[in-house]
Amino acid sequence: MRTMQHRVVLTINLSHLAQNYKAVCDISSPCTVMPVLKANAYGLGVAPIARALVAAGAPRIAVAEPFEALQLTDLGVPIQILSGILPDEIPEMIANDVVLPIVSEESARLISKEAVAQNRCATVHLKVDTGMGRAGILWQEMPRALKTIATLPGLSIEGLFTHFPLAYEQGSDFTVIQLQRLLDILEVSEAHGIHFRFIHAANSDAINNAPIACQAPFNLVRSGINLHGAFDAAGSLRVPLTPVLKLTTRLAQIRTLPAGTAIGYGHTYTTQGPTRVGTVCAGYADGLPLALSNQGEVIIRGVKVPIIGRISMDYLTVDLTAVPEVQVGDIVTLLGTDGEAAIQVDTWAKLKNTHAYDIICSIGSRVERAYI
Ligand SMILES: Cc1ncc(COP(=O)(O)O)c(C=O)c1O
Repeated sequence: MRTMQHRVVLTINLSHLAQNYKAVCDISSPCTVMPVLKANAYGLGVAPIARALVAAGAPRIAVAEPFEALQLTDLGVPIQILSGILPDEIPEMIANDVVLPIVSEESARLISKEAVAQNRCATVHLKVDTGMGRAGILWQEMPRALKTIATLPGLSIEGLFTHFPLAYEQGSDFTVIQLQRLLDILEVSEAHGIHFRFIHAANSDAINNAPIACQAPFNLVRSGINLHGAFDAAGSLRVPLTPVLKLTTRLAQIRTLPAGTAIGYGHTYTTQGPTRVGTVCAGYADGLPLALSNQGEVIIRGVKVPIIGRISMDYLTVDLTAVPEVQVGDIVTLLGTDGEAAIQVDTWAKLKNTHAYDIICSIGSRVERAYI
């Protein structure tokens, strides 16, 4: 029996996750909302998150690659790979009924050939690069590619989709141009007798900033970061989100250091007077950005206290002047709410000059994921 607790714990509130799923559904209605749970659900732990979302009504789940797909095939809903597929990955994916992206004429031929060889039908979505510049069939090449794809056996062409690079920009002209490119392709497809069950483009950025991508003929949206209660602060937020994550640890040591004591690697902070300094069990190995050094805060007993000195691998130091009653072993909230005080993922993202995705995906592997 395990008795030793992890020091740093990421608590993931699955009912808040489900609430966010419903909020995204409401805003995107009548579109179907497909959770995007790639990279182990952005590092939060894909199995419990996928189960909670399916229980909340998610009719299908998207991931980035085959290993992730195989972890979810027993969920009872279609599992779909978004990004791309390597030739040697195709047989196992078809054997497991994973919905595949077609990113080139060549990939369409390979998927078709393998489906025929397995005496199966591969369900596919055509991925069009309308301006992301990352993967898919270039929109200019789609009319020709469609001619080929339409004739291939063993394919059930279920979807047409694209991805946005700039959808966080309110009223982005480029996003509208991308949508028009996809709509033009839709017209050509229909002329070839290809009718799609799902036409999709919107990610969280578009759901929040380009509602046009949630209207007919678009009937599916792909939502990732919003489900976890965070968003891309480069744009605005339309979905009423509930926080899902709380990152906590413990206070390891309390000392009163004399004036003039330099603290931590690089001696980046020096006490001005006698100072009660707390040593907190969390560092960059747990995913705390170095940028929190001398800039961030943590919450102890409902009070925010400043981080002083540089974040190290396993520890950080704080000025405890504002909380004289603290004791060794006290819970320290790094992210989330304690009483009236809250620290958001976005606050870290701003200090690190990054986005919420980077912060969430960077939570360290030794941090326990606990689900409530
Ligand atoms: C193709 C695609 N669609 C949707 C998403 C989900 O994005 P978000 O987490 O911003 O909702 C991603 C994630 O990067 C993606 O790559």
